[in-house]
Parts: sequence; C-alpha cells; structure tokens
Amino acid sequence: MKIDAQTRLIGLLGYPLSHSFSPQMHNAAFAHLNLNKLYLPIEVTEQDLGVVIRGMAKMNFDGFNVTIPHKINVLKYLDEVDEAAAAIGAVNCVTIKDGRLKGYNTDGSGFVRSLEQGLGESVRGGNILLLGSGGGARAVAMTLALRGAARINIFNRTVAKAQELAGEINAKIKSGSSAAVDEAALREALAGTDIIINTTSVGMSPHTEETPLEKSLLQPRHIVCDIVYNPRQTRLLQEAAETGCRILPGLPMLVYQGVESFTLWTGVPAPAEVMFAALENKGAGT
Ligand code: ATR
Repeated sequence: MKIDAQTRLIGLLGYPLSHSFSPQMHNAAFAHLNLNKLYLPIEVTEQDLGVVIRGMAKMNFDGFNVTIPHKINVLKYLDEVDEAAAAIGAVNCVTIKDGRLKGYNTDGSGFVRSLEQGLGESVRGGNILLLGSGGGARAVAMTLALRGAARINIFNRTVAKAQELAGEINAKIKSGSSAAVDEAALREALAGTDIIINTTSVGMSPHTEETPLEKSLLQPRHIVCDIVYNPRQTRLLQEAAETGCRILPGLPMLVYQGVESFTLWTGVPAPAEVMFAALENKGAGT
C-alpha cells in the first residue's frame, strides 16, 4: 500500500480499542476501490478527546468513527449533528469538511439497511417489539420511529428504562407511537408484532445458553433480529429458525453501519461484499 502526502485518514476513537473489526473492514474497502485512504485506530481517553478531535480537524482526516465510551461526549465538540443522531443523542460517525465537524449515527441506519438488504423488509408501517433499553436500543428505536414504524413496543428487564425510552421517542418524533410493555402484557404485544429485535446483551458469548425471549412466545409470522454478533447465531435466532421465523443476525448490522459511514466519508457507495469478506476470517470476540 502506498502512503504519501496525499493519503487521507479516517480515525477510530475509543477507549480501549482491543477488539475492533472496523480497521480491517474499511482498509479492505479502500484498497478494493483504490482509494488513497487509511483507517487508523486511535485510543484516546475522555480527558484528551477534545484536544485530539481539534487536532484531527487541522490534519489530513476526512472523519472518524466514535465508539465506547465517547459516543455521547463527542457531541460537544461537533459543529453540526444530523437529525437521527440528535434524536438518538449519540454519534458514532463524524465527517470533517473544510475543518467543520458533522456527527451522524449509523448504528440505527445500519440496522435498518441490514433488514432491507438481508430480508427485503421495510420498517415503514411495521409493528416492532424491541427487547432492551440501552444504547443499542436507543439508536435502533429512534431510527425505526424516524423511518415510519407504526408501533414500537419496548420490553426491558428494568421496566422504568423502557418507559423512559418510549416516552422520549413519543416526545421527539411526531409520528412516534411507542410504549413500554411489562411481562404481563408481553404475550398480547407479541400477537400484533411483525419484527422482534433483541438489543440486550443476553445470549452474547460466553453466556450463549441464555435467551431474552422464551421459545414458546415465538410465532412463525415473526421476523426475529438480534444485534448480538458473537456468537454468529444466538440461541434466540436458533429457536426462531426452529419455529419457522425469518431471522436476521447481528453481523450484517455491524457491516452496514460501516457501509453507511464509508459513504459519508468518501461520497461513494461502499463495497459491502468486500467488507463482509474482510470479517469472514475474524474469530469470536471481534
Ligand atoms: P448497550 O449500549 O450495548 O445497549 P447497555 O446500555 O448496557 O448496553 O444496555 C444493555 C441492555 O441489556 C439493557 O436493556 C439491559 O437491561 P437493564 O436496563 O435492565 O439493565 C439489558 N440486559 C443486560 N443484561 C441483561 C440480563 N441478564 N437480563 C435481561 N436484560 C439484560
């Protein structure tokens, strides 16, 4: 690979950065398209985040990804934030143009795109059951509401957090129709559900025997999605497949958030198949 004075950089800011898949995925895509760009992990503490970002704006950076624990803190260093990222309250992708920093959230849009590309399904008009109320849930739920999902029911271990997220969706998004459901209301909510999305960490390695939803609650009409990508197929997805449901694993969301980020930085379509292939050889935990 040729690195010279024209090479443009894309950063990944987080702390710590031990298990990131993004450098491999983006550098494979840059090489495939013959773009003189390099994706570079930069481990940075919260204390240094501002000074690092201000420095990047003065350097040959076209942008950067932001990961744990900086997705919320980064907002205060940006000049502009797009609508979805503002509603979510978190940014995972920043573009730098003429020294100006604009923040986006491609976690939610990456999920929606994986659903469209993987299963040919649109979320518009859909009746969703979201499991979880953490950071992943916020990104997915707000994006679904902005893209016209008819109903977003939220089930979470801590019901108060589900109520808080549902209330925020309804307050921020005019067409939003969201409600928390508790254990007692779950069966009834599932009867009207088209798409179930797990955003909790339940079932993630090493606790692969766990599942966030009992198998007996699944029906063949449900589309079942899991944003957990380690293991590649969670117990929830296995049991959904056994029930006759269509399933969507977490890996495509991971790739499509990268696909969406890639286009924001470069202005060209990303080679999704090259990015999938770059992750194929990565083992568990990445
Ligand atoms: P992320 O940013 O990855 O979404 P998070 O903010 O820590 O992570 O949220 C984790 C989600 O998984 C939460 O909805 C959490 O439920 P609580 O709000 O009750 O904490 C859920 N979760 C994690 N472990 C769980 C478990 N063992 N059983 C049920 N839900 C669990």
